[in-house]
Amino acid sequence: MDIIIASNNLHKVSEYKEILCPLGFNVFSLKDENIECEIAETGSTFKENSLIKALEIAKYTNKIILADDSGLILEAFPNILGVYSHRFMPTLSYKGKCEEVLKLLKNKNRGAYFTCVITLINFKDKPLFFEGICKGHIGYDYVGDNGFGYDPIFIPNGYDKTMAMLTSIEKNKISHRGIACEKLIEYLKDNMEK
Ligand code: IMP
Repeated sequence: MDIIIASNNLHKVSEYKEILCPLGFNVFSLKDENIECEIAETGSTFKENSLIKALEIAKYTNKIILADDSGLILEAFPNILGVYSHRFMPTLSYKGKCEEVLKLLKNKNRGAYFTCVITLINFKDKPLFFEGICKGHIGYDYVGDNGFGYDPIFIPNGYDKTMAMLTSIEKNKISHRGIACEKLIEYLKDNMEK
Protein backbone atom coordinates (compact mmCIF):
# COMPACT_ATOMS: atom_id res chain seq x y z
CA MET A 1 0.00 0.00 0.00
CA ASP A 2 1.30 3.47 -0.95
CA ILE A 3 1.03 6.22 1.68
CA ILE A 4 1.97 9.88 1.23
CA ILE A 5 3.09 11.79 4.33
CA ALA A 6 1.49 15.25 4.14
CA SER A 7 4.41 17.09 5.73
CA ASN A 8 7.39 19.14 4.66
CA ASN A 9 9.11 18.16 7.93
CA LEU A 10 11.71 15.63 6.78
CA HIS A 11 12.27 14.41 10.36
CA LYS A 12 8.63 13.43 10.65
CA VAL A 13 8.72 11.79 7.22
CA SER A 14 11.76 9.73 8.15
CA GLU A 15 10.13 8.59 11.41
CA TYR A 16 7.06 7.43 9.46
CA LYS A 17 9.31 5.67 6.94
CA GLU A 18 11.15 3.90 9.77
CA ILE A 19 7.90 2.75 11.37
CA LEU A 20 5.85 1.84 8.30
CA CYS A 21 8.32 0.60 5.64
CA PRO A 22 9.43 -2.52 7.58
CA LEU A 23 5.74 -3.50 7.74
CA GLY A 24 5.50 -3.47 3.96
CA PHE A 25 3.99 -0.03 3.38
CA ASN A 26 5.48 2.18 0.65
CA VAL A 27 5.91 5.61 2.21
CA PHE A 28 6.42 8.76 0.13
CA SER A 29 7.19 12.35 1.08
CA LEU A 30 5.62 15.36 -0.65
CA LYS A 31 8.99 15.88 -2.33
CA ASP A 32 8.95 12.27 -3.64
CA GLU A 33 5.57 13.08 -5.22
CA ASN A 34 6.66 16.51 -6.53
CA ILE A 35 3.99 18.20 -4.43
CA GLU A 36 5.05 21.71 -3.48
CA CYS A 37 2.71 23.16 -0.92
CA GLU A 38 2.96 25.30 2.23
CA ILE A 39 -0.09 24.69 4.39
CA ALA A 40 -1.35 27.37 6.78
CA GLU A 41 -2.18 25.83 10.16
CA THR A 42 -5.31 27.85 10.85
CA GLY A 43 -6.97 25.39 13.25
CA SER A 44 -6.98 25.72 17.02
CA THR A 45 -6.49 22.02 17.82
CA PHE A 46 -4.09 19.31 16.67
CA LYS A 47 -7.03 17.45 15.14
CA GLU A 48 -8.19 20.46 13.13
CA ASN A 49 -4.69 21.20 11.83
CA SER A 50 -4.05 17.56 10.99
CA LEU A 51 -7.29 17.46 8.99
CA ILE A 52 -6.47 20.77 7.23
CA LYS A 53 -3.11 19.33 6.09
CA ALA A 54 -4.64 16.07 4.87
CA LEU A 55 -7.45 17.80 2.94
CA GLU A 56 -5.02 20.20 1.30
CA ILE A 57 -2.80 17.39 0.02
CA ALA A 58 -5.88 15.46 -1.15
CA LYS A 59 -6.22 18.17 -3.83
CA TYR A 60 -2.96 16.93 -5.41
CA THR A 61 -3.19 13.12 -5.28
CA ASN A 62 -5.52 10.18 -4.96
CA LYS A 63 -3.02 8.05 -3.06
CA ILE A 64 -3.66 7.38 0.63
CA ILE A 65 -2.67 10.42 2.72
CA LEU A 66 -1.31 10.50 6.25
CA ALA A 67 -1.12 13.95 7.87
CA ASP A 68 0.43 14.64 11.27
CA ASP A 69 -0.05 17.60 13.56
CA SER A 70 1.97 17.40 16.72
CA GLY A 71 3.55 19.49 19.43
CA LEU A 72 4.82 19.77 22.96
CA ILE A 73 2.52 20.84 25.80
CA LEU A 74 4.08 22.41 28.89
CA GLU A 75 1.90 21.88 31.96
CA ALA A 76 3.02 25.24 33.42
CA PHE A 77 2.20 27.13 30.18
CA PRO A 78 -0.29 25.05 28.20
CA ASN A 79 -0.97 27.82 25.67
CA ILE A 80 2.59 28.78 24.74
CA LEU A 81 3.71 25.78 22.67
CA GLY A 82 1.00 23.18 21.93
CA VAL A 83 -0.35 23.72 18.41
CA TYR A 84 2.10 26.63 18.13
CA SER A 85 5.18 24.48 18.89
CA HIS A 86 6.66 25.06 15.44
CA ARG A 87 5.78 28.77 15.43
CA PHE A 88 7.16 29.52 18.95
CA MET A 89 9.88 32.21 18.69
CA PRO A 90 10.01 31.86 14.88
CA THR A 91 13.34 33.62 14.39
CA LEU A 92 15.21 31.19 16.65
CA SER A 93 16.78 27.86 15.76
CA TYR A 94 15.42 24.81 17.59
CA LYS A 95 18.36 25.00 20.00
CA GLY A 96 17.36 28.62 20.72
CA LYS A 97 13.68 27.67 21.18
CA CYS A 98 14.68 24.88 23.60
CA GLU A 99 16.87 27.28 25.57
CA GLU A 100 13.92 29.73 25.85
CA VAL A 101 11.75 26.90 27.21
CA LEU A 102 14.42 26.04 29.78
CA LYS A 103 14.49 29.70 30.91
CA LEU A 104 10.69 29.88 31.02
CA LEU A 105 10.46 26.86 33.31
CA LYS A 106 12.89 28.10 35.94
CA ASN A 107 11.20 27.27 39.29
CA LYS A 108 8.06 26.09 37.48
CA ASN A 109 6.30 22.73 37.12
CA ARG A 110 8.40 20.84 34.53
CA GLY A 111 5.67 18.35 33.52
CA ALA A 112 5.17 18.13 29.75
CA TYR A 113 3.83 15.84 27.07
CA PHE A 114 3.98 15.44 23.32
CA THR A 115 0.78 14.91 21.34
CA CYS A 116 0.35 13.71 17.78
CA VAL A 117 -2.87 13.47 15.79
CA ILE A 118 -2.69 11.52 12.55
CA THR A 119 -5.39 12.02 9.91
CA LEU A 120 -5.75 9.28 7.32
CA ILE A 121 -7.59 9.94 4.06
CA ASN A 122 -8.18 6.79 2.04
CA PHE A 123 -10.83 8.25 -0.31
CA LYS A 124 -13.31 5.53 0.78
CA ASP A 125 -14.16 6.41 4.37
CA LYS A 126 -14.51 9.76 6.08
CA PRO A 127 -11.15 11.06 7.36
CA LEU A 128 -9.91 8.86 10.21
CA PHE A 129 -8.02 10.12 13.27
CA PHE A 130 -5.41 8.40 15.47
CA GLU A 131 -3.94 10.09 18.53
CA GLY A 132 -0.80 9.39 20.54
CA ILE A 133 0.53 11.01 23.70
CA CYS A 134 3.98 10.68 25.30
CA LYS A 135 4.22 11.98 28.87
CA GLY A 136 7.36 13.17 30.60
CA HIS A 137 9.07 16.32 31.83
CA ILE A 138 11.48 19.01 30.69
CA GLY A 139 15.06 18.48 31.84
CA TYR A 140 17.51 21.19 32.90
CA ASP A 141 19.87 21.07 29.91
CA TYR A 142 19.85 20.70 26.14
CA VAL A 143 21.26 17.17 25.60
CA GLY A 144 21.39 14.65 22.74
CA ASP A 145 21.91 14.61 18.99
CA ASN A 146 19.10 12.37 17.75
CA GLY A 147 15.50 13.20 16.88
CA PHE A 148 14.48 16.80 16.22
CA GLY A 149 12.63 19.82 17.60
CA TYR A 150 12.22 19.72 21.38
CA ASP A 151 13.63 16.19 21.81
CA PRO A 152 16.90 17.41 23.48
CA ILE A 153 14.99 18.89 26.46
CA PHE A 154 12.20 16.29 26.85
CA ILE A 155 12.67 13.35 29.23
CA PRO A 156 10.00 10.67 28.71
CA ASN A 157 8.47 9.01 31.79
CA GLY A 158 10.50 5.97 32.86
CA TYR A 159 13.74 7.33 31.35
CA ASP A 160 16.62 9.32 32.79
CA LYS A 161 17.71 10.68 29.42
CA THR A 162 16.22 12.96 26.82
CA MET A 163 14.31 11.82 23.77
CA ALA A 164 17.28 13.04 21.70
CA MET A 165 19.52 10.48 23.47
CA LEU A 166 17.29 7.57 22.39
CA THR A 167 17.88 5.70 19.15
CA SER A 168 15.14 6.16 16.58
CA ILE A 169 13.94 2.60 17.29
CA GLU A 170 13.66 3.41 21.02
CA LYS A 171 11.94 6.74 20.31
CA ASN A 172 9.42 5.24 17.88
CA LYS A 173 8.36 2.63 20.48
CA ILE A 174 7.27 5.23 23.05
CA SER A 175 6.76 8.48 21.17
CA HIS A 176 3.44 10.23 20.56
CA ARG A 177 3.98 9.55 16.82
CA GLY A 178 4.84 5.89 17.42
CA ILE A 179 1.74 5.39 19.58
CA ALA A 180 -0.57 7.12 17.09
CA CYS A 181 1.01 4.94 14.39
CA GLU A 182 0.36 1.73 16.36
CA LYS A 183 -3.36 2.60 16.36
CA LEU A 184 -3.21 3.44 12.65
CA ILE A 185 -1.45 0.15 11.85
CA GLU A 186 -4.09 -1.83 13.80
CA TYR A 187 -6.75 -0.11 11.71
CA LEU A 188 -4.94 -0.74 8.42
CA LYS A 189 -4.37 -4.42 9.27
CA ASP A 190 -8.06 -4.90 10.03
CA ASN A 191 -9.54 -2.82 7.26
CA MET A 192 -7.37 -2.57 4.19
CA GLU A 193 -5.37 -4.70 1.84
CA LYS A 194 -1.65 -3.84 1.71
P1 IMP B 1 3.66 20.87 13.11
O1 IMP B 1 2.99 19.56 13.42
O2 IMP B 1 4.14 20.97 11.73
O3 IMP B 1 2.84 22.04 13.58
O4 IMP B 1 5.00 20.95 13.94
C1 IMP B 1 5.15 20.24 15.07
C2 IMP B 1 6.26 20.84 15.89
O5 IMP B 1 6.17 20.25 17.20
C3 IMP B 1 7.62 20.44 15.37
O6 IMP B 1 8.15 21.37 14.48
C4 IMP B 1 8.41 20.37 16.66
O7 IMP B 1 8.69 21.66 17.10
C5 IMP B 1 7.41 19.81 17.64
N1 IMP B 1 7.43 18.34 17.61
C6 IMP B 1 6.49 17.51 17.10
N2 IMP B 1 6.87 16.23 17.22
C7 IMP B 1 8.07 16.26 17.81
C8 IMP B 1 8.98 15.23 18.17
O8 IMP B 1 8.78 14.03 17.94
N3 IMP B 1 10.12 15.65 18.76
C9 IMP B 1 10.40 16.96 19.01
N4 IMP B 1 9.61 17.96 18.66
C10 IMP B 1 8.43 17.62 18.06
